[in-house]
Amino acid sequence: MWKMTFWRYLRYSIPYWRLILASIGCGVLKFSLALGLPASLSFVTKYVVVDDLSATEKIVRLFIILGLLTAALAVRTPITYWRSYWASRACSLTIFDIRMDVFRHVQRLSLAFHNRRRKGNLTARIISDLNDAQGLLGEGVINVAMDSIFLCATALFLLFLDAQLAVVSLFTLPLYGIVYYRMNPKLRHAASQVQKEMEEMAGEVTEKLGAIQVVKAFVREEAEAERFRDRQRRYFDRVIARIRLRTTLTSIAEFLQSFGPLVVICFGGYHAIQDTAYLPKLILFYGFIQHLYLPTRRLADCSAVIQEKLAAVDRVFELLDAEPDIQDRPGAPALPTIEGRLVFDKVTFGYQPGNPVLRDISFAIEPGQAVAIVGRSGAGKTTLVNLVPRFYDTWSGAVFVDGHDIRNVSVKSLRSRIGMVLQDTILFAGSIRENILYGRPGATDEEMRRAARMAHVDEFVEAMPMGYDTPIGERGVTLSGGQKQRISIARAFLCDPRILILDEATSNLDSRAESIIQDALKTLMRGRTTLVIAHRLSTVVDCDFVVVLDDGRLIELGPHEALIRNDSLYRRLCEEQFGHVRLDTFTGAIA
Ligand SMILES: Nc1ncnc2c1ncn2[C@@H]1O[C@H](COP(=O)(O)OP(=O)(O)OP(=O)(O)O)[C@@H](O)[C@H]1O
Ligand SMILES: [Mg+2]
Repeated sequence: MWKMTFWRYLRYSIPYWRLILASIGCGVLKFSLALGLPASLSFVTKYVVVDDLSATEKIVRLFIILGLLTAALAVRTPITYWRSYWASRACSLTIFDIRMDVFRHVQRLSLAFHNRRRKGNLTARIISDLNDAQGLLGEGVINVAMDSIFLCATALFLLFLDAQLAVVSLFTLPLYGIVYYRMNPKLRHAASQVQKEMEEMAGEVTEKLGAIQVVKAFVREEAEAERFRDRQRRYFDRVIARIRLRTTLTSIAEFLQSFGPLVVICFGGYHAIQDTAYLPKLILFYGFIQHLYLPTRRLADCSAVIQEKLAAVDRVFELLDAEPDIQDRPGAPALPTIEGRLVFDKVTFGYQPGNPVLRDISFAIEPGQAVAIVGRSGAGKTTLVNLVPRFYDTWSGAVFVDGHDIRNVSVKSLRSRIGMVLQDTILFAGSIRENILYGRPGATDEEMRRAARMAHVDEFVEAMPMGYDTPIGERGVTLSGGQKQRISIARAFLCDPRILILDEATSNLDSRAESIIQDALKTLMRGRTTLVIAHRLSTVVDCDFVVVLDDGRLIELGPHEALIRNDSLYRRLCEEQFGHVRLDTFTGAIA
């Protein structure tokens, strides 16, 4: 299972194989050049000190060796730079591509999926889990390749130079690796325990300080301090446990790290006594093995690190594997130009199996007609209109646009014919212009201004010093509720949809603001097939007919004047919802 995740992740990094290879090559070179120092010392002993040479010749030789060493150390700096740069670039590009795919995919997932998930969790996966995963290529592939190549090459070289001394000097390395291999998972576990306790402690502090007024009012300060002591105690214990583990590990590692060279000195020293020519080799081995500990430690730790990173990658790929519920049928054609005839045919739908929210709803709207949908809270009004852009698919029955079952045409073409002005105006951080253009990014400035004029946006924008370039802050925080609604109406104007869905805002605007918005909406509705979830009597009266929903059923259907006359549910609803208005002023018939 984890292998599949690993390969899948690696597939994303294939386009960057050149960077990866270059980084591995530079890494091996960087480590090898570091060996220059012990190598020079060994050369000095062999070719300068030991040989029976004249003083001048010795100095020349010394300078040659020093020159080579300086060159090696000088080259090492840019190589170190490029190795890190290329490795980081490959890792970041890989994550860039995965993150793009995930974002695109998550946008395609249906509303049903998004309603089930907490936004914070999705954000965490797309942002922090992927950041965690970044190390998988760096530590899991590049470092492993680099360390293995370097270790094998160096070991082979030493074996070739003196097999006996090589075996003796390398024998602590596996021990060292085993210690790290065994201890690191424990250390990681201990670190996560500390993290967990810290989260708890932070949660407790935030909660209690957030409710400080309650704590004070009930004189609970002392009791809270005692509680906090327990909490801190647990945190403290975890920290100490981690410190003990860490200190044990470093002590053992340090012992082995100094024990290795000690063995070399003992064994090599014994030989050097008998033959001084052995000394340069001894120095070389002594110096080399010091450089082998870091790669050994990293290799011993790599499987745990990879497992940890893979867990993060798994969570990300799980998102990529979620199938969008709403998909185009294979080869589904685009919806041709439409007039806007909308038909609900025996539509039944619910969010949870066995619990239908809409039952057997049938009605038709002719092109250009406006229909008011009325019903108590929870009757299913929003649910009904959400079926038109195919945010959800019906359980049974179908929705037709100009005779096309909406499931048989491409979702994109369907939605591009539909405009929505929702109850909660949703704007994005950016300028007013950008927010209006969201409806049709390719529109000209003239078209944008025309839409703004129709929606009465120009009236308040012109008073702003920056005009349409005024930034409106996240979700439009710098605008009033009415202004935001007008921008969202302008946005709908600009995309010029054949079918319009309005969820009238319930927020109480003053009567002037309200009448401006009413006017803007009326202009917008002209000539378009409109479904409006009405919260105002004046809207209902303006519509061609009214659909009355009760507990997911279509109870009444007809023009306002006809429905209001009887002792209908509609009449009762009107009295409940618009009680403050004299209904007869809107009918003229009831005297
Ligand atoms: N995403 C959802 N998941 C599960 N159930 C839902 C979901 N949305 C709505 N419902 C349920 O479906 C029923 C109809 O909800 P809907 O939002 O369509 O009502 P409404 O008529 O628009 O009400 P209101 O006037 O309050 O906006 C309600 O019982 C609601 O609890
Ligand atoms: Mg609703």
